[in-house]
Amino acid sequence: MKQAWDSIWINANLATLIADRPGYGLIESGALGVHEDRIIWVGPTADLPEPARQSSVPRRDCAGRLVTPGLVDCHTHLVYAGNRAQEFEMRLKGASYEQIARSGGGINSTVRATRQATADELYLESLPRVEQLMRNGVTTVEIKSGYGLDSETELKMLRVAQRLRQELALNVKATFLGAHALPPEYEGRADEYIDLVCHEMLPRVREAGLADAVDAFCENIAFTPQQVERVFDAASDLGFDIKCHAEQLSNLQGAVLAARYGAISVDHLEYLAEADVPLLARAGTAAVLLPGAFYFLRESKRPPVDALRRHQVPMAVATDSNPGSSPVLSLTLMLNMACTLFALTAEEALAGVTREAAGALGLGEQLGTLEPGKRADLVEWDVRDPAELSYFIGDNPCRTVMYGGRIR
Ligand code: NIG
Ligand code: FE
Repeated sequence: MKQAWDSIWINANLATLIADRPGYGLIESGALGVHEDRIIWVGPTADLPEPARQSSVPRRDCAGRLVTPGLVDCHTHLVYAGNRAQEFEMRLKGASYEQIARSGGGINSTVRATRQATADELYLESLPRVEQLMRNGVTTVEIKSGYGLDSETELKMLRVAQRLRQELALNVKATFLGAHALPPEYEGRADEYIDLVCHEMLPRVREAGLADAVDAFCENIAFTPQQVERVFDAASDLGFDIKCHAEQLSNLQGAVLAARYGAISVDHLEYLAEADVPLLARAGTAAVLLPGAFYFLRESKRPPVDALRRHQVPMAVATDSNPGSSPVLSLTLMLNMACTLFALTAEEALAGVTREAAGALGLGEQLGTLEPGKRADLVEWDVRDPAELSYFIGDNPCRTVMYGGRIR
């Protein structure tokens, strides 16, 4: 059968990130063929097959520049109203993130602003943040709800995520995070709030088809493992993927709990015990590392990266973009921070925002590497060596982005 080629990229330094190839899976002077929204061929430019050599096939000469899979930001809270610059100032004067949260600020101050915003306002506030990530090479983004904490506002947030998916070129995965914080009207009644999450919010989110995964914040300032377990029970019954904010500020063994539910990822993990790492490996659960939150909260305890590496737990890296703990709008900056703060290698960091991030969203079969059959999400960078992406701080060498076979 004759394969149709819609476009080809040639003379690229291709970082394929294919799992069984060493390091970045580099193909120097590589070429890549695209048909519709898929990659159909990857190899050395000199080996391009005959149909691709026809001059009628549009071609981009990358002149030795680096080409990677489109970046995947697998953990964000990008849809929210207002910001928390004032809390940042309070923290600079000595207040802690926990103190601010316990005194009615923190997540709940964003909840107030997000409840007040109309869906249009919320969309218009979120759009520039998403576009900023896109300009930096992100082709897939995960967006969590969790600043509504009532049924209507949670659904409103998820509809804004849906609208971003419909109106932008990028791939948006939505996650329901109703169990993010206790809303003020449920003060002292956390179990009743969890009832609302399980019996009303989750079924409505499922019915409306507004999210694929369910996340929960297992922490002293949020929900207990017992409460999170109830959310996971209800979510599993409805067929959602499971994710968990775990071990960010203390060790409640939320990651172990989530792994028991076959979670696709557990996220943060600064306080994860080394002894618990094999459980993640066995469950096939990815560890999502969020160096932006670690940095912005000026944490000092690092996630157990050596143990994760030793036990071959897939390590993803994400922005955790949110107004309170990580107002980060650059995933390439997170490459640098993952290396400098968490001691990932540059290879691990790049795999962490491509292949492993796709896995952390349950999309490992569809994207995250440059190989035939995967979605044609590609970034051409104004650098040659993949290590440069982790090395430069505050640069944005993103040159051309292809989203599912189309250049925007
Ligand atoms: O991932 N850890 C919980 N949630 C967010 C913080 C949200 C906020 O402070 O608004 C996080 O860090
Ligand atoms: Fe988060």
